[in-house]
Formats: sequence, structure tokens, C-alpha cells
Amino acid sequence: MISIKTLGQFIIEKQADFPYAKGELSRLLRDIGIAAKIVNREVNKAGLVDILGTNGDSINVFGENQKKLDVYADEQFISALKSGGECCFVASEEQEEGVVLTDAGISKNAKYIVCIDPLDGSSNIEVNVSVGTIFSIYRRKSAVGEDITEDDYLQTGLEQVAAGYIIYGSSTMLVYTTGKGVNGFTLDPSIGEFCLSHPNMKIPETGKIYSINEGNYIKFPQGIKNYIKYCQEEDKETYRPYTSRYIGSMVADIHRNLLMGGVFIYPQTAAQPNGKLRLMYECNPISFIIEQAGGKASTGGERILELKPTELHQRVPAIIGSTKMVDKVLEFLN
Ligand code: AHG
Ligand code: MN
Ligand code: MN
Ligand code: MN
Repeated sequence: MISIKTLGQFIIEKQADFPYAKGELSRLLRDIGIAAKIVNREVNKAGLVDILGTNGDSINVFGENQKKLDVYADEQFISALKSGGECCFVASEEQEEGVVLTDAGISKNAKYIVCIDPLDGSSNIEVNVSVGTIFSIYRRKSAVGEDITEDDYLQTGLEQVAAGYIIYGSSTMLVYTTGKGVNGFTLDPSIGEFCLSHPNMKIPETGKIYSINEGNYIKFPQGIKNYIKYCQEEDKETYRPYTSRYIGSMVADIHRNLLMGGVFIYPQTAAQPNGKLRLMYECNPISFIIEQAGGKASTGGERILELKPTELHQRVPAIIGSTKMVDKVLEFLN
């Protein structure tokens, strides 16, 4: 008989890794898993019902036109976190200000902060290409009952207690870390459970895939232009030319590179000196996962996880992936 391990069983087993834990983090992860299944259901039937397209005239803090599913996913995750009672504050891509949940009664004693990109790659929804969710979890610094301050939600990536992503792809997967390796779970739709399918995930030390939006080429720093040229040159020893793969959903590009080896780059340009991707709910959680899988994540100058955040929605340049490939990019940049 094949034995399967569900996400719920796995989380409970792993609770022993945290002697101080009283089960709150486990419950929080479970709440995120439940919201993910609800969002998955909507994403899967997006072509059938009238939830595609833009959400009227609404735009988010970045001036991006919000898609209906952006707003739906945001509502689902926030409502699951609120009713779960373990989260006191949510910072979301779709909310200009963080959402305080401590007034929600049930969350009064909650100890955790969640930063979330409810739907990543939302420009891909209409064309049936993989989208995702990215989340990051911190312990609050203030005491329970005190007001939530910047010190609570602007912590460095090194202080994350857990991070993960969900990829709504040809299969739906949830991949997460609590700082003790990375594990991946595939949703079995017939039983409605995430089942352990990718234990102890490791990113290959090097690979053949580079992922970057080459449409922005003329705006890239010279070092990045030179690196792209390097990727395209022929060299048998280093298996070049490399393969270019860019989906435009960070989660999907990272997930492929995690499994196959590769480097994902979203650099700064003259027009966007900090690139495009957001530190708190895109780069920090993904960097935590990739480092835990044995890879590397840098802005080009600094380790992403060491950055001291100054704003909820701040952007950072990102070079993330297989260690040797990230090092090579850094060589070209410096
Ligand atoms: P989001 O859909 O959450 O706003 O994120 C979009 C991000 C990320 O998923 C992707 O890697 C990147 O934007 C793609 O940007 P370009 O279209 O500029 O390449
Ligand atoms: Mn967006
Ligand atoms: Mn995103
Ligand atoms: Mn998003």
C-alpha cells in the first residue's frame, strides 16, 4: 500500500522541531493551506465564470490594474488569517496599508505577522498560464495587547520564521520552509489534500536556464547585458549556450529553476533603480526558500535576506537561483 503524508500530518510532525512552539505556527500554516485550496478552486475555473478580467477601475498601490482574482485571493487569505486567529497583522500587495487583525476579537492574542502576494503573475490569468501565491511569516516583536509598530512588520528577511509559495500550475503545489529545509506538497484534487511529493528539495548548484525579461535589454546595467551575452555564447565545458525561459510569474519561474537549476534575474534599470519586485512579499520569502534549498539570493550588491526594510511595498533588484550561476552574475556586475 502506498502511504501518503498530507500537509496537515507533516506540519504536526514537524512541530517537534520548535520546542517553544505551542502549535500556533502550525495552525497558521494550516490556515494558509486552506485558503490556498479555495483560491485554487477559483483559479481553476477562471475560464468558466465571470471572474476574469479587471476589477472595474480599481488599481493597487503600484498603479497596477487589479484583476478580479487579485482581489478575490487577497480577500480569501486575509479572511482565513483573521478567522484562524494566529495572525495579528497582514501586509499584502493589494492593500496600501497593512491590515491590523488584533481588533478582530479572535486574533487578540495572535503572535504572527504575515506578508503576502495573494496572486503572483496575475497578468497571466487570462491566458491560462501558471500563477501563484507567495507568503512570509514573522513573529511580532511587540507584546500581545500592544499596538503593532514598524518594528513588527519591517523585519529583515533573516527573521522570517517560515515562508512559502503556492503554484497553481498543471498541478497545484505548496512549497514551504521553516528554516529547516524545503518541502513540497502536491494537491491531490480527488481527496482535496496537499500530499508530500517533494521532500527536502535542493536546487542544483548550477544549471542551464537563465530567466530574465529580455524585452528590457536596452535598459539593463552593462554587467547584466554582458552576462546575457555570456549565456548565449558557445562553450562545451560550461554547457553553453544556456536556455532562456521566462514565464512572467515569479513563482513559476522560480519553481522551475528550483527543480532544474537556473538563475532568475529582475535587475534595476535607469527607470526603475530598485527593479520591480517587492522585498517583503516576493523577494524575501523566495530568497529564504532558495537559500534553504542550497541556492543564493542577492540584489547584486547585498544578500537580500540581510536588507533592513524601510517600507512595506519597497522594491529590490533580484538575482536568485543556483549558487554558481548567481555568483557568475555577480562577477559580471562587479
Ligand atoms: P504580480 O502579478 O504579483 O504583480 O507580480 C508580477 C511580477 C512577477 O510575478 C514577475 O516575475 C514580474 O512581475 C514580471 O514582470 P515583467 O512583466 O516586467 O517581466
Ligand atoms: Mn500586481
Ligand atoms: Mn508578484
Ligand atoms: Mn500579486
